[in-house]
Amino acid sequence: MSIHKSVKKVTTHQLREMKSRGEKIAMLTAYDYSMAKILDMSGIDVLLVGDSASNVMAGNETTLPITLDQMIYHATSVVKAVERALVVVDLPFGRYQGNSSEALRSSIRIMKESGAHAVKMEGGIEIQESIVRVINSGVPVMGHLGLTPQSIYKFGTYTVRAKEEEEAQKLIEDAVLLEKCGCFGIVLEKIPAALAKKVAETVAIPIIGIGAGAGIDGQVLVMHDMLGITQDFKPRFLRQYVDLNEIISSAVNNYIKDVKSNDFPNDQESY
Ligand code: KIV
Repeated sequence: MSIHKSVKKVTTHQLREMKSRGEKIAMLTAYDYSMAKILDMSGIDVLLVGDSASNVMAGNETTLPITLDQMIYHATSVVKAVERALVVVDLPFGRYQGNSSEALRSSIRIMKESGAHAVKMEGGIEIQESIVRVINSGVPVMGHLGLTPQSIYKFGTYTVRAKEEEEAQKLIEDAVLLEKCGCFGIVLEKIPAALAKKVAETVAIPIIGIGAGAGIDGQVLVMHDMLGITQDFKPRFLRQYVDLNEIISSAVNNYIKDVKSNDFPNDQESY
């Protein structure tokens, strides 16, 4: 039986079992109560309160400006809606790169104030101390390697990462390290499919990809992108399942027309 039917609440342990039996993991981002409810009721396995909220909710160009308080606000709204999915929350830029005590304090705030189930951090060996400290406190941590958007100014481009041997080798070493540190899973973003597959075969923890091909344990997309709410972001890896922008615009146009023509409200819609 699929996990959608058999499991009441998805846990990090169940994600690992899904990998062992070859069942793919479906993950999407969520930032608010109403959408999180729809995604959870639809059977999504993991909801990521991504710092992509900085882009799609707050209108920033990058993920860097979003604050811990803003992430906790989004996470709290999502957790209230969720009955089944595992809720993972991004630690925002600046909260774990420099100081493992701050990483621990921030993770504990997220867990206590929002009720989320896990946190995610971007990077490998450079942030090992923060990852170990947070996991040792009992908070599950998901890693994130490849194109890590919090480092976009270092990369200088959103192009595919780890195409060269040296960066690919470091990525594999980082993935092995994250597993050793106790991470329960890793997101791989925008790297060659063959490299992602090799990582998934090398480690026992689930590898969830975005722009990392099909040879891994699951997929994640930004909800606004896959629903066609975002208009100006169409990378090759994105499959848009519906054009919500078009559907919403058309509904709003009809509403405006009805209001202007005095067609709305009619007698049945009035008291
Ligand atoms: O913040 C986010 O939405 C993410 C996904 C792209 C994996 O980290």
